[in-house]
Amino acid sequence: MEWVQDIYRQPLVNVKGVPLIKYIGEMVESIQSFQAWPDDVLISNFPKSGSTWVTEIMEMIYQGGSLEKCHRAPIYERVPILELKWPGLSTGIQILKDTPAPRLLRTHLQLTLLPQSFLDQKVKVIYVAHNAKDVAVSFYNFYKMAKGHPEPGTWDNFLEKFMDGQVSFGSWYQHVLEWGELSCTHPVLYLFYEELKKNPKREIKKILEFLGRSLSEETVDHIVQHTSFKEMKKNPMANYTTIPTEIMDHSVSPFMRKGIVGDWKFVFTVAQNERFDAHYAEKMAGCKFNFRWQL
Ligand code: A3P
Repeated sequence: MEWVQDIYRQPLVNVKGVPLIKYIGEMVESIQSFQAWPDDVLISNFPKSGSTWVTEIMEMIYQGGSLEKCHRAPIYERVPILELKWPGLSTGIQILKDTPAPRLLRTHLQLTLLPQSFLDQKVKVIYVAHNAKDVAVSFYNFYKMAKGHPEPGTWDNFLEKFMDGQVSFGSWYQHVLEWGELSCTHPVLYLFYEELKKNPKREIKKILEFLGRSLSEETVDHIVQHTSFKEMKKNPMANYTTIPTEIMDHSVSPFMRKGIVGDWKFVFTVAQNERFDAHYAEKMAGCKFNFRWQL
């Protein structure tokens, strides 16, 4: 596996002002001409915001609640990430070539890097947002286990980089705000991780309504149960344990790590929290969204 050296702890590259893992940076330029279809549905989020969870929910909806169909392949093959490229694995684009309509796709891209055809085709977007403090903690642990990222350094350094938008996929603030603004002109269902935790059934019903689909109460309950953190953590088709250890080392920190709201309280020092809150208030001034820091 000579490609291991090529991905191991490489610095991020800058694409139109957005820091990205080298391979993803190369893909982003080449996918700008990607043709979205009007019946595609795009799941978008900043990394570590609950995208895997929402994707599994969406898959269960599309498969009419069939566990068997959802077990046919790992999640990153069932619902490709548009910009994904890892040596040794199929790219998102390669998987999409063989995916029949209606397609489900995922992205972590900042809105500015999204191929134009998604906007032209008015592709429905399910956006999932997650409070910035828990995302920073989750991302720090993900950097440690997913070796394609640069070394995370100390938690204090990482938090500074996160606040400054100098982490993979760029600024959390820009992401949640720009995708949020898109909902004024485009069909976007804006979901919150915290609300999904609080009342998954209600949020799944919101998704069904947005998609114009319906399922029986029994099937919705089945989806809630199958997509719980406990179930997804032990499901190899959803927990990324099928990815080579050279790319994701779950012994360092599992992908399905804690799955709770408010984990940041165990990690942020009082000083870090004060600094973060002051910076957050500046960046999010006038924002219509109210993020919950705890349930
Ligand atoms: P933690 O690291 O805080 O545990 P993404 O899929 O966007 O990368 O987000 C990953 C985060 O979502 C991780 O958070 C992961 O544990 C959490 N997660 C994944 N599936 C979940 C589920 N079914 N319920 C709650 N959290 C889940």
